[in-house]
Amino acid sequence: MTNPTTPIVEFKNVTYSTDGLHILKEITGSFPEGKITTLVGPSGAGKTTLFRLCNGLISPDTGDILIKGKPIQTYEPIRLRRNVGLALQSATMIKGTVLENLALPLALQGMQIEQQDAEELLDDVGLDKSFLHRHAKDLSGGQRQKLSIARTLVNKPKILLLDEITSSLDRVSQHDIEELISKINEKYGTTIVWITHNLEQARSIGHYTWVMMGGEVIESGESSMLDNPQDERVLEFIKGELA
Ligand SMILES: Nc1ncnc2c1ncn2[C@@H]1O[C@H](COP(=O)(O)OP(=O)(O)OP(=O)(O)O)[C@@H](O)[C@H]1O
Ligand SMILES: [Mg+2]
Repeated sequence: MTNPTTPIVEFKNVTYSTDGLHILKEITGSFPEGKITTLVGPSGAGKTTLFRLCNGLISPDTGDILIKGKPIQTYEPIRLRRNVGLALQSATMIKGTVLENLALPLALQGMQIEQQDAEELLDDVGLDKSFLHRHAKDLSGGQRQKLSIARTLVNKPKILLLDEITSSLDRVSQHDIEELISKINEKYGTTIVWITHNLEQARSIGHYTWVMMGGEVIESGESSMLDNPQDERVLEFIKGELA
């Protein structure tokens, strides 16, 4: 059993700026291993920027990021991206079949995907194996999002970062994806960090929640904290979202 409080990603006084703008200010905190942490906050709070730091797309100006206790810069970029998967709202696909899209992470490493593994991955995300030879462009939004998640699972990441993956989906598809992510978390023990604008989702799916504003984490804790936040700004934000 994993100790529920073992951090898998740690931020220590992390700052990031670009074009003279202070985008992240002294971020300190951690994402617990094997848990689901949800990230909420107004547009421009710095949530996506935090993800880009976690998979090495950008580096902090100051401070340290540790992954499994080791400084992020000590990981080879390929190894880091294998361990830290990222799924985006856009669920961008290459031209071609579902199989070709699933195979992409391995193809980029000069490897091929086994038919059986591809079928198993589709099964994991609730898509029938008959989808394998369909064109990715013909999938519905929800199906494309499932394929995008399956594709990030190819590398069996320890950490899965999800950036607003259900924002453009209807309620039924949203619910499907929520169940799927909880299942992946339970089945593989994958640490999930999920950025969402849906506070109900953040509360129900998350074990832990961070509220970010203006490049800072202004409140964090168990997701039930959203029912009774201590910080006045969080209260205002929640009221605004629910209005
Ligand atoms: N490459 C960049 N160059 C200049 N400014 C940037 C860059 N990337 C992000 N920013 C700015 O940093 C701030 C935080 O952006 P970020 O995308 O992290 O916010 P967010 O919390 O994900 O917002 P949203 O909820 O709208 O997705 C914004 O003000 C944004 O305009
Ligand atoms: Mg964002």
